[in-house]
Amino acid sequence: MKFHVLTIFPDFFASPLKSGIIGKAIEKGVFEVNLLNIRDFTTDRHRTTDDYPYGGGCGMVMKVEPVARAIESIPHEGKKRIILTTPQGTPFNQALAKELSGLDDVTVICGRYEGVDERVRAFADIEVSAGDYVLTGGEAIALGIIDAVGRLIPGVLGNEASSEEDSFSNGLLEHPQYTRPEMFRGVCVPEILLSGNHAGIERWRRQESIKRTFLRRPELLSSAELSREDAEYVEALKRGAASAN
Ligand code: ADE
Repeated sequence: MKFHVLTIFPDFFASPLKSGIIGKAIEKGVFEVNLLNIRDFTTDRHRTTDDYPYGGGCGMVMKVEPVARAIESIPHEGKKRIILTTPQGTPFNQALAKELSGLDDVTVICGRYEGVDERVRAFADIEVSAGDYVLTGGEAIALGIIDAVGRLIPGVLGNEASSEEDSFSNGLLEHPQYTRPEMFRGVCVPEILLSGNHAGIERWRRQESIKRTFLRRPELLSSAELSREDAEYVEALKRGAASAN
């Protein structure tokens, strides 16, 4: 898998791409990140990447030609996707991360918060947002995409199972986790986790995962895969919530 990132701030990526699991994977060559400085694709003396908006108004607009040249310089290989980061895009999520992890070539065009020339959009297959807030540019979400997609590529996580138990990967938030000490400032680890009863632990974790999703992100439950027992537990949570009101 190869990521290409079009940015006017390539230095932004230096430290994150050397750190932790992602840094190790890149070092081992499990996947590659090719940073393209959009400024290198300008042709004027001042290496201009943005300009005033036609029609007036404040703020600068990212120019189309350097982005077009940068995209066209990439020797895309295999199954590819070109992403434009913009607050107007679809919010990035685990399902999209999973889909992208199956491709050979993922390109991210980092937009600037003030806007990009509308004609840049024609170079993207999809537009992706970090969420309903405004960043100064798409670099932070580009890193988020590389991290979220990268960790799903086989060979990146030591234990393949660990990405299957993540929040969202089964449509639910993850259950609570504890490690030592058993008691911290009067708060004890739930008894069941110390019991050695593996079936009981599995059931507890499943129910805690459902409960947490019900309380924090109830809209996720309608698309999660729930067994009959899970669905009964959701009904019990609903009854409990209704009687508390
Ligand atoms: N650029 C500025 N804000 C953004 C956001 N929320 N998502 C993606 N790109 C952005």
